[in-house]
Amino acid sequence: MNRISIDLQRTLGTLDRNVFGGFAEHLERCIYGGIYDPESPHADERGLRTDVIAALRRLHMPVIRYPGGNFVSGYRWEDGVGPREKRPARLDLAWHTVESNQFGTNEFIEFCRLLGTEPYLVVNCGDGSMREARDWVEYCNGTQDTALVRLRRQHGYEAPHKVRYWGIGNEVDGPWQIGFKTPQEYARAVTEFGKVMKWVDPDIKLIANGVSHWDAADFVERGQLLLEQAAHLIDYLAIHWYVDNDVNDFSAYMALSELFEERLSAYEGLIRALRLERKIERPIYIAVDEWNVWHRAQMGVGGHDAVVYTLEDALVVAMQLNAFLRHARIVKMANIAQIVNVLAPIVTRREGLFLQTIFYAFEAYSALAGPAVLDVHWDGETFSAGDRQGLRILDVTATLDANKRELVVFVVNRSEREADTVLKLAEGQFAGPVRIHTVNGAHVKAYNSFDDPGQATTKITTAEATGSSLPITLQPHSLTALVCPVR
Ligand code: AHR
Repeated sequence: MNRISIDLQRTLGTLDRNVFGGFAEHLERCIYGGIYDPESPHADERGLRTDVIAALRRLHMPVIRYPGGNFVSGYRWEDGVGPREKRPARLDLAWHTVESNQFGTNEFIEFCRLLGTEPYLVVNCGDGSMREARDWVEYCNGTQDTALVRLRRQHGYEAPHKVRYWGIGNEVDGPWQIGFKTPQEYARAVTEFGKVMKWVDPDIKLIANGVSHWDAADFVERGQLLLEQAAHLIDYLAIHWYVDNDVNDFSAYMALSELFEERLSAYEGLIRALRLERKIERPIYIAVDEWNVWHRAQMGVGGHDAVVYTLEDALVVAMQLNAFLRHARIVKMANIAQIVNVLAPIVTRREGLFLQTIFYAFEAYSALAGPAVLDVHWDGETFSAGDRQGLRILDVTATLDANKRELVVFVVNRSEREADTVLKLAEGQFAGPVRIHTVNGAHVKAYNSFDDPGQATTKITTAEATGSSLPITLQPHSLTALVCPVR
C-alpha cells in the first residue's frame, strides 16, 4: 500500500509557467517541414503549419527558445530578415548542412504571436560579435529613429517585437560548440555582451549558459566566474541535459529521478552559496532551457527525426517535470528540446502529424498544473536500481489553485504492477468528483506512429471522493493526474 499525504497549507513555491516552455532550432525538420512548410496542405498563407500550431496550442507553452542550439553559434541573424529572394544560403557548420534562411526572426515572431507564446532569442556567442548581438536587440525592440529600427519597419514590422528573453550563446562549455569558451572567456563575453544588450533595452531578461557538459568538471568554476563578474546582468543561469535508456534497463531508467534531483539541488546550492558570499541581492534563477529524452542510438540515418518515444520515455518526461515543480522556487524556466520533429512530441509529414507518447505527459502538466506547488509526503512500495536502494515506486508532486479550490496531484507509477494507494488530505476535504487523467499504454515499450497513433495516450475518467481520503489503484507504468475539487 502507498500513502500520499497532502497538507494544502504547505507550499514549496510559486510555479512559473515558463517551465512549460519549448525550443525550436534550425535543425533537420524542426523549422523546415515542421513549423514552416509552404507546400503542405495545412500551411497558411505565410507557410506556417496550422495543424502543428493547433497541436502546440494543447501544450500551452508560454515561451519558445530559438534559433538554436548548436546552430546559433554560427548564425547571422541579418541573413534571415528582409525579402526572401535576397536572403543568402549559408553553410551551417553545426549540423553540416546548408541553411536557406527562408525562415528567420520575423517569421518566428509571427509564429509565436499566433501561438500566444513569448519568443526567447539566443544570440550567437560562438563566432558572432557583441555588435551583432546588440544590433539584433535593437532591430527587434528598438523604438528610436535609427537605421535598424527603420530596417525593421521596412520589413513590415512597425511596432517593436518586445522580445523579453535573450540568451547569450549556447552550450559554450562543450568542445562540440562553434566557439567553445573557457570559463574565464565566457564570463568576460557575458559581461560585455550583456552590458550592451541591456543598454539597448534595459527591460530584457538575460540567460547565460551554466552547464551542459556535466563531465567537464568545471561547472562550479563557470558559475562562480559568471556570478562574480556579471551577477548584475544575469537573470537566469541555463542548464541542459538529455537522458536515455539505450542500455534498456527499465529500473535504472526510472531511477533517473535521483539524477535530476542531484543536479537541480547542486546547482541551486551553487547559486545560493554565491549569492550569499558575494552579497548578490537580485535573484538569479535556473532555466533548464534544453531537456528531454534523447535516444542517440536510434538516430542512424534518420537523424533526430528517427527518435521514437515509448511509454517509458513519457514517464521520464513526467519525472523531469516533477523535478522542476519540486524546485519551483528557483527553476523559473524550462524548455523541452524540441517542439516538432527533432526530439519532439509532434511528428509531421506533409499531409499530417501524429503525437508521440511524451506529448501526452507534457500536456497533462501544462494543461492542469495550478499556481502553487505543494510539499507532498508519500511512502510505500520501493524498488532498487544498481546501487540505489529504497526508491519509492511512486514519484509524486501536487499543485493547488486556491481560487479555483482545485488540487492536482501528479503521480508516476514507476512499477510494472498496479499500485494500491490512498491519497489523504491533512486538512480540508474533497468537494466533488475527481477527474483522473491517465497516460498509459499496454506496456512500457508502447509507442505511437502515423499508422497507429493511439498506442499510448491520455484517458479521462472520474471517481467519487468524499471526506479526506481517496483510495485509488494506479495503473502499472502510468502517469496519473488527479484533478480534485477541495474545500
Ligand atoms: O537539441 C539538439 C542539440 O542538443 C542542441 O542543438 C544543442 O544545444 C544540444 O547539444
